[in-house]
Amino acid sequence: MSVTVLSGKTAKEIQKNEFDEITAKFKKICIDIGTGDGKNIYRKAKNDKETLYIGLDPVRDNMEEIAVKIAKKPEKGGLDNALLVISTAENLPDELCSVADRVTVLFPWGVLLEGIVKPEEKFILAVKKAAKSGAEFEFITTYSANREENMMETRGMPELSIEYFNGEYKEKLKGYGLTINNIELLDNEYVKGFDSKWARRLAFGRKRDFYRITGIIG
Ligand SMILES: C[S@@+](CC[C@H](N)C(=O)[O-])C[C@H]1O[C@@H](n2cnc3c(N)ncnc32)[C@H](O)[C@@H]1O
Repeated sequence: MSVTVLSGKTAKEIQKNEFDEITAKFKKICIDIGTGDGKNIYRKAKNDKETLYIGLDPVRDNMEEIAVKIAKKPEKGGLDNALLVISTAENLPDELCSVADRVTVLFPWGVLLEGIVKPEEKFILAVKKAAKSGAEFEFITTYSANREENMMETRGMPELSIEYFNGEYKEKLKGYGLTINNIELLDNEYVKGFDSKWARRLAFGRKRDFYRITGIIG
């Protein structure tokens, strides 16, 4: 078994023993599923050297710019506590199972959004699979009938509200082993604190409601 890591511009296979050697150096591990351009985890990793930040995304090209930066010398922005893994959530490599102290899914779109918000078993179980027992999870999501009517119709998405997340959604997550502790309604100002191109596009666009769902896994 191996995990495919983007190192600079090169995709490298890392074997389990090598992967374990990397993770053993850190107090904590955070896995960000659907990390996009990886800029959100880059900033977190820069400010928290005791945690290994692993960004996971199936689209290698999205992550290439930040992978090149991570691979540089430390004085040029290189980091040894950030790793970019090429994979979908559903096909989580074995090496990433039961390792995370924290799992995040930030501003998902498309199938990942659908999987997290509906919620769909294979996506929520991917979050659970990545986590150690007692790990934290964080989902931040946004869409609305004003802006994304077509997407909501095509994908059969529910309207987002505190009530939605506090009701059947909470029960379903509990059934998969995720306990929601907090549901927050946030605005564009909050999202201005994130660095990815996608987050910045949302934050600096028209006014939106963002829902942040946090809790404990297992
Ligand atoms: C809106 S984008 C980027 C979101 C990113 N977290 C951010 O804050 O910029 C959503 C990402 O989800 C990724 N994605 C799509 N399907 C996925 C899947 N099945 N598993 C994991 N990631 C997926 C896409 O490649 C894309 O980069």
